[in-house]
Amino acid sequence: MSIDTATGHVNFQTFSPGDMRNVRRFFAPGRVNLIGEHTDYNGGSVLPVALELGTWLTVRPRTDGVLRFFSTGFEQQVEVLVDDLSFNPNHGFANYPKGILTTLANMGVGLSGGDFFYHSNLPSGAGLSSSAAIEVVTGYAAVALAGYPLAFDELARAAQRAENEYIGVQCGIMDQFSVTLGKQNTALLLDCDSLHTEYIPLDLGDFMLVIINSNKQRSLTESAYNERRQECERALAVLQKQWTGLNFLAHLSEVQWEASQATLTEPVLRRRVRHIVTEQRRVVDAVATLKVGNLVEFGRLLNASHSSLRDDFEVSGWELDTLVAAAQGAPGCIGARMTGAGFGGCAIALVSRERVRDFRLHVTDQYAAVTGLVPSFYESGAGAGVREVTERMQNL
Ligand code: GLA
Repeated sequence: MSIDTATGHVNFQTFSPGDMRNVRRFFAPGRVNLIGEHTDYNGGSVLPVALELGTWLTVRPRTDGVLRFFSTGFEQQVEVLVDDLSFNPNHGFANYPKGILTTLANMGVGLSGGDFFYHSNLPSGAGLSSSAAIEVVTGYAAVALAGYPLAFDELARAAQRAENEYIGVQCGIMDQFSVTLGKQNTALLLDCDSLHTEYIPLDLGDFMLVIINSNKQRSLTESAYNERRQECERALAVLQKQWTGLNFLAHLSEVQWEASQATLTEPVLRRRVRHIVTEQRRVVDAVATLKVGNLVEFGRLLNASHSSLRDDFEVSGWELDTLVAAAQGAPGCIGARMTGAGFGGCAIALVSRERVRDFRLHVTDQYAAVTGLVPSFYESGAGAGVREVTERMQNL
């Protein structure tokens, strides 16, 4: 396979030579969650933002029953038949598109083949939803190629099912919804029980959102994530003895939580529930502060969210805690916290636009001195959700 000297990447034409007229291109963004962490699978609210960074998919339909996948980031090519989409541990990234295509095939959206070429500027496995992006962009393209009408929320739910049932990660619905329904310059307030959505204008005034990658290889993320879910389910089962009719932990009010101390006696479960109850409150407060432009209070809520994820939910880890502490103490920063599942990955910080350079230098120095790791920084506004970008194809 030859390399395009201009971009350094294998280009689409070397992967799939031929007439370009029926080739289409699609894009799905990554996401960062502003606040509301680990609340989605507890029926709570989340406030994610779709990024301008994301994954492009260039696709040529085929009629011979063959599916070919190539990713520039993984430099891996995988070829399968449309009627054999079973999970294969050797197929790496391609299991994600195979997963969503399996889910869609079960819903009656079948393809007769295709060449799928992925290129992404999202770091993979860093907690910015690179997996939701590849699943959603593939699902959106498949639906478009098949000419099958599928509502955006159905696509998001199909991508979640692919992740749950095919990949085996028991994730909630936040990532797939934000990647699908993101809108420029807004955050998406999503009630993960009713799936009601509200777009919250994201006007950060003199501040900007800085995303910082800890560059700590995430380990045991899936098993620890699934373990947190199980702990939440156990805590819910205990609390339901006292509060019949309680369907989700995030529905437990602060008053009910105070009155539950004698029921929920296991210390670990108490900490998990305290995080969910206080985090749900912080989402409500964060939305109110954003609506009135009180960014200092918003920053304080980010800090409080991190403390709760560190001490009560225990999903941050030494590197992320070091990174967030460095950010919180850096010039121009009014709030910072880990974002996403945790156990490594990224943090976000709210930083004065004028101080971003000093902020980066300070965080890099402090973090590297303690951990020996060099962080990466991404600047991205709130972008739009999945879409077709065929008309903007260049340099294929
Ligand atoms: C991952 C999952 C989401 C959510 C977050 C934590 O990103 O995919 O569903 O649970 O972790 O808030």
